[in-house]
Amino acid sequence: MGRVLVTGAAGFIGSHLVDALLTDGQRVTGVDCFADYYDRRIKEQNIAAATGHANFRLVEADLNTVDLASLLQDVDLIYHLAGQPGVRGSWGGQFEVYTRNNILATQRLLEAAMNAGHVPLVYASSSSAYGNLPTMPLQEEMTPAPVSPYGVTKLAAEHLCRLYSAVHGLPTISLRLFTVYGPRQRPDMAFQRFLTAVLENREIAIYGDGCQTRDFTFVADVVQAFQLAGAACRAGQHEGGLFNIAGGTRASVNQILEQIAMTTDRQPLKRCFPAQPGDVRDTWANTRWTAASLGFSAQVTLADGLEHQWRHVNRQV
Ligand SMILES: NC(=O)c1ccc[n+]([C@@H]2O[C@H](COP(=O)([O-])OP(=O)(O)OC[C@H]3O[C@@H](n4cnc5c(N)ncnc54)[C@H](O)[C@@H]3O)[C@@H](O)[C@H]2O)c1
Repeated sequence: MGRVLVTGAAGFIGSHLVDALLTDGQRVTGVDCFADYYDRRIKEQNIAAATGHANFRLVEADLNTVDLASLLQDVDLIYHLAGQPGVRGSWGGQFEVYTRNNILATQRLLEAAMNAGHVPLVYASSSSAYGNLPTMPLQEEMTPAPVSPYGVTKLAAEHLCRLYSAVHGLPTISLRLFTVYGPRQRPDMAFQRFLTAVLENREIAIYGDGCQTRDFTFVADVVQAFQLAGAACRAGQHEGGLFNIAGGTRASVNQILEQIAMTTDRQPLKRCFPAQPGDVRDTWANTRWTAASLGFSAQVTLADGLEHQWRHVNRQV
């Protein structure tokens, strides 16, 4: 078996996937440009354990400029997680960064995967592609209408994956991830901000009335989903397919704060701000198609997942 390529390997989710693949005995190449969206040292810590592993090779490079033909030599599966995340920052001048890292980089990688002998590719898409749809729970066949420029770029890249499958026979699968949390979560994401604020006895910034809901997904469950999708993609199943990946633990921000109070045994201090443009009101996934097709089922409860993340936040200080 060849090597597995993980793009965005030093990021939150990518680094967990790398660890799991190495534990599974696979040979892994990780590529990451250490984008400056958040502190590079956090990414170095994310990937520290893998870096010492005999089966791991880290390439620091930008997917927009690196020689992809060389990178893909001996690679027989690609997990494409590199991208510019974050809904709120995607308005205005930053859109160029989102276009480059989410759309152009994906198109370049798809071309290279095709030219390297049709290397299968699993893409990390986002629930942000849906937008504020009137019917819940969200299902893959619904017509998406993103409400942020970020969501537009993730949907565009998803379409490119489907297109390269349909027109060129490249095996691809896109996973629409619903709010991922757990150890190493990005510093801009809600749980990480909330838990760090509680630890440091600071106020937590809440945008909107706190009644907005998310279907939260623990990172180990997301890793499981990638591995199932990777196996399916390698086997030539579900080409061009699209799957919701969610934890089945839908909760409002206010309910999360209650859970955080229980987990940390401290009362969070709140400070409310207006809702931010681009934030969807609710997310809630139907994962029946994913369960039936890939055999995915989320294992980790919100209480257990938050406990893991709280312990990690305590170790970070
Ligand atoms: N975290 C979530 O809840 C969530 C939800 C839905 C989708 N996603 C998607 O999953 C992926 C991973 O998200 P994350 O939360 O781990 O983010 P992250 O920022 O921690 O990881 C992304 C990594 O990609 C790298 N990268 C960005 N552009 C690159 C380029 N052009 N070349 C090489 N490397 C590049 C960054 O340096 C970073 O380390 C992203 O594509 C994101 O859009 C995440």
